[in-house]
Amino acid sequence: MDSVEVKRIEEVCQRLLSDFCGKEALPYKKTKKGLWATSVTKDVYLAFRWASLEKYRQFVDLGSGDGRVVAIASLFTMAAGIEIDPELHWLSLQLKDALELDNVAFYLGDFQDFNLHQFDFIYMYPDRARINIESAIAGWRGVVMIAGHHFQPSGWQKIGEKKFSVEKFSLYSIG
Ligand SMILES: C[S@@+](CC[C@H](N)C(=O)[O-])C[C@H]1O[C@@H](n2cnc3c(N)ncnc32)[C@H](O)[C@@H]1O
Repeated sequence: MDSVEVKRIEEVCQRLLSDFCGKEALPYKKTKKGLWATSVTKDVYLAFRWASLEKYRQFVDLGSGDGRVVAIASLFTMAAGIEIDPELHWLSLQLKDALELDNVAFYLGDFQDFNLHQFDFIYMYPDRARINIESAIAGWRGVVMIAGHHFQPSGWQKIGEKKFSVEKFSLYSIG
């Protein structure tokens, strides 16, 4: 049932991108803080099942792009996204409306300026090897899921790693 939902989320994202950015628009964009590219949605769904996301109170995607990962997380728990790019943030608000998601919030801004203490599960799909997140999570307790292979934090306690059809996901326990 949820895999049907995940397919629908992806289709709506694609439709919104075409409607608002042109038929030929691709899910890639240079933003103030790097590149927007999307996670592989069906792998994200499987990774959230693997991590038992339903056990957590509040999920946040740091750098949430068009909001598709947050929409998938909302199948499990309360979910939020923080994105620096105004167009992508706006697309994520359209996604929230189109899917009538009532357990989702999207914030515009730099995640380094946010107090993350209300969240207990952080997701990131970084486009580079170095991400300045240490100060944002100082004193924070919870679980961080990193998608992809670019960012491999040292000094964090890795509690699991799993590859699905395309993407690898690493899970860290903090605090
Ligand atoms: C590779 S994309 C991932 C998008 C989404 N999380 C996904 O998995 O589909 C990384 C996103 O992070 C955003 N980003 C990078 N640094 C950021 C920051 N400090 N604050 C907010 N957004 C940031 C970028 O603008 C980009 O949209």
